[in-house]
Order: sequence, then structure tokens, then C-alpha cells
Amino acid sequence: MTYKVGILGLGTVGTGTAQILSDPSGRHPLLTELEIAQVGVRSLDKPRAVDVPHSLFTTDLDAIVSHPDLDIIVELIGGVEPARSLILKAIAHGKHIVTANKAVISRHGDEIFDAANEKGVYVMLEAAVGGGIPVIQPLKQALGVNRIKRVTGIVNGTTNYILTRMKTEGADFADVLADAQRLGYAEADPTADVDGLDAADKIAILASLAFGGRIRLEDVHCEGIRHISSTEIDYAEKLGFTIKLLAIAQEDIPENSSDGTPQKLSLKVHPTLLPKSHPLASVDGVFNAILVEGDPLGQVMFFGPGAGAGATASAVVSDILNIAAILKTETEPIPHPLLSCTHQHFCAIA
Ligand code: HSE
Repeated sequence: MTYKVGILGLGTVGTGTAQILSDPSGRHPLLTELEIAQVGVRSLDKPRAVDVPHSLFTTDLDAIVSHPDLDIIVELIGGVEPARSLILKAIAHGKHIVTANKAVISRHGDEIFDAANEKGVYVMLEAAVGGGIPVIQPLKQALGVNRIKRVTGIVNGTTNYILTRMKTEGADFADVLADAQRLGYAEADPTADVDGLDAADKIAILASLAFGGRIRLEDVHCEGIRHISSTEIDYAEKLGFTIKLLAIAQEDIPENSSDGTPQKLSLKVHPTLLPKSHPLASVDGVFNAILVEGDPLGQVMFFGPGAGAGATASAVVSDILNIAAILKTETEPIPHPLLSCTHQHFCAIA
């Protein structure tokens, strides 16, 4: 069985995704059943660093989302429009959706998920938060039995990279931001990173998964790192603190509450002085980490590369793979991956 994938956007993450899909050897066996059938790009003339036939490229994104042969649409163009309209159109044509687009999900998630439910298709967004860190699926599933009290994250790789290099090298803010752009960490408009808006989108998504309900982006208090100076970072270090841009979602329990019942959810993104002993204080560079606190589990922390082509593409392809696995079980039983794996040490277990 082959599952046909249409990719919208061949920027940093799109290129990383196409590279994994066109080089399946040594990875999950189901990858060999995925086929890149069309790739939507802005320019057909631009040279591309991927092993995808030029004949699959098109500038007609509307034609991709309505193409009768495609099973899965991977939206990697970012931003709200035309991403939202293309996703909705693809859903209307019965396509499953994979997206790395935190802005469209945090602002139009309700509309998108309602449309997908009505049509009976999947919308997967592992890459929208935390780059390559698997955190969406665990929050949706494994952690769902817990009463979540708080989610605290370093969820923007660009700002963490900037703050780290200002701390370790006394580097200039603008120079490091330019490096983050060159390395493919920053958004097309990096003000979304430095002003905390990207982190606000991400904490809105995490909070809606952790606490349920409909979270509005306007409810997130948002402050970025633009005003942080190397001198302040230095002073913080000398006093035993490190400055991190944290995104926090927690239940607020009013002081006069007699039974400890939370009254509202507090959602914030702001630079924070963290004691160096805090689990998030040593998360440096482009790494992200999300600390989830719940009952009865206690604390669990997810850590990994939070931005960049390879890391984010890993999460995108894991979503494509999950959809393909579901579609496959609908038509034929899927062999246990350890039994069908080509790695010698895994086969020895079987
Ligand atoms: N610009 C984002 C970041 C990319 O720096 O974290 C990953 O979402």
C-alpha cells in the first residue's frame, strides 16, 4: 500500500521533511510506503537541496489540497493565511492534515478541528510545539489520566539560543538573532520569536491539551526578550540565577479559597529569573524543555532540540507515519515494528 503525501512549503522544515521521506533506509519500515506526490512551492526556479523530482513541484497549492489522489497534506508554509484556508479546503476534500503551524492552530484550532471531526479526518501537530520533542501526543494520551496543575516551558529555540549566547559570550543581541535566522531557527518574521508571540501560540496549544477547554490567544500575557541586556544577564548569573523566556500555564487558586479549588487558568510568557537549581535553568542553546506537573504523576520533563530543519522534520514525519499506520490498520493488520525491523539487535529480541 502506498500513501500519497502532498507537501505545502519547501522552506527549512519542508526541506528537512522531504529529505527524511526520500531517504527511508534504516528508519521505520512504514516510511517505504509513503510517497511524496506533490510539493507546493513559491518559485519553480529556485534551486532545491532535496532529492525530489522537479516534475512534482507546483506553485498551485489549491490544486494540491484538492488533488483526488493525495491522502495526507503536510502544511509547512506557516503563518495564518493562506495556511488556514488551505487546511480547511484540504479537510473538505477528505485529506488528513499534518501541520507544524502553531499560529494557525492556536488561533483557528477550533474551526479546524470541528471541520476535521465532521469530515472524519485527522489533524496532527506534533511539530507545532517543541520542535523535535514528542510532547503533544504524551499530553493528549499518556498524561491524560493526571490532573495537570502547571505546564512550564522553554518553547522558543531562537530566544533561548540568543539568551544563551548573550550569557556565555556576552554576544550582541542583533548578531545572535542573525545567526539564529541563518541556522533556520527563527520565524520568517523573527519579531514573533523575540516578542514572545511564538511562545504564546505554543503555550495556548499546550494549555488546551493539558487543561481542556478553549483557550484564546488573547488570554496569554506576553512579554519578549527585546529589553534584556547582557549586563542584566551578568548580574543574574552573579546572584545565582539565569534568565529564561518561560511560557507558563497554571491553575490559579485564590488565597481565600476554602477548598483549594482553582478559579481560573493563568497563561503567561515572560523573561524569568530562574534559580540555577531549577530543572529548566540548564536548558541552553536551541534546546527546549517542557515541565509538566500533575497529580498523581508529579513532575515530568520533556527535553530536546526545539527548532531547526532536522528536529522539526522528525516530528512532522512522525505525524505522517502515525496517520499512515492508522490508515493501514483499517485495511490490513500492521506487523509489530520490532518483528519487521531490519536492525540486527532488534531482530535478535524477536
Ligand atoms: N521559531 C521557532 C523557535 C521555530 O525558534 O522555536 C520552532 O517552532
